Amino acid sequence: MTDRYAVIGNPIAHSKSPLIHSGFAQEAAQDLEYTKIEGPLGGFAGAVDAFRAAGGRGLNVTVPFKLDACAYATDLSERARAAGAANALKFEGDRVVAENFDGVGLVRDITHNLGQPLRGKKVLLLGAGGATRGAVLPILAQDPAQLFVANRTVAKAVSMVNQFRANGASADVLAGGGYADLGTNRFDVVINATSASLTADLPPLPASAFEPNGLAYDMVYGKGLTPFLKLAQQAGVKKVADGVGMLVEQAAEAFEWWRGVRPNTQTMIAQLTVPLV
Ligand code: ATR
Repeated sequence: MTDRYAVIGNPIAHSKSPLIHSGFAQEAAQDLEYTKIEGPLGGFAGAVDAFRAAGGRGLNVTVPFKLDACAYATDLSERARAAGAANALKFEGDRVVAENFDGVGLVRDITHNLGQPLRGKKVLLLGAGGATRGAVLPILAQDPAQLFVANRTVAKAVSMVNQFRANGASADVLAGGGYADLGTNRFDVVINATSASLTADLPPLPASAFEPNGLAYDMVYGKGLTPFLKLAQQAGVKKVADGVGMLVEQAAEAFEWWRGVRPNTQTMIAQLTVPLV
């Protein structure tokens, strides 16, 4: 019987996950079916129960169910626990294991695909929502010189940073505050993890925050040159990227976790890339 996987979210029509995973499966000669499920709002657990009963082996989870996925799981990975959110589930008998691959996908895209090391670098992360929460530990694991979390609502950045520090993150490396706290500090890597680009808005970031020889990375995908990336280019940054590589790399992590086979990501990234103009 063909193994079944799916992505669950609401809305879900726009999801690229079926395309990505089917492409991986074909390339890696894996016999599996990957579909999308529009989970009813407030009805996540029921939809997942039904999928498991029908032989489902694993799920990708997207908005707005990433917290529900954590609550549904019997076992949380350290990353899912730290992020407080899961983007992948694996079903093993009665056990449900939750993972969060968003942050590792981001880091792999930056360090491997874009060739920008994070070790010893100054990194600025914009926003203090779920996207930032998932990125903090994977970035810290790269040993940056500094990781600053800046958020419009200052208290949110401060409390998130305090929480990570209470769990062992170094206060020398990890700090947080508002955009005004950035002063004239310059960062090698600036990552936009706010939802501002979805509405063509720009976080109130001084252009002086960008290091021209560094990287500006917007986690959104398929929006072309966002106001954030435009600001980076105006500040002289040569290397700018959107989240297409993160999207494909987090999918590859889930695929390997489920199937034990690492798919090639380059073809898929090339196929899904929307030009940054
Ligand atoms: P996600 O889970 O995708 O990160 P979220 O939890 O809703 O989404 O968080 C969105 C983040 O984008 C927040 O940090 C938000 O800032 P506030 O905490 O101050 O609301 C940030 N954000 C959204 N629009 C923004 C804008 N126009 N400028 C700056 N930050 C913005």
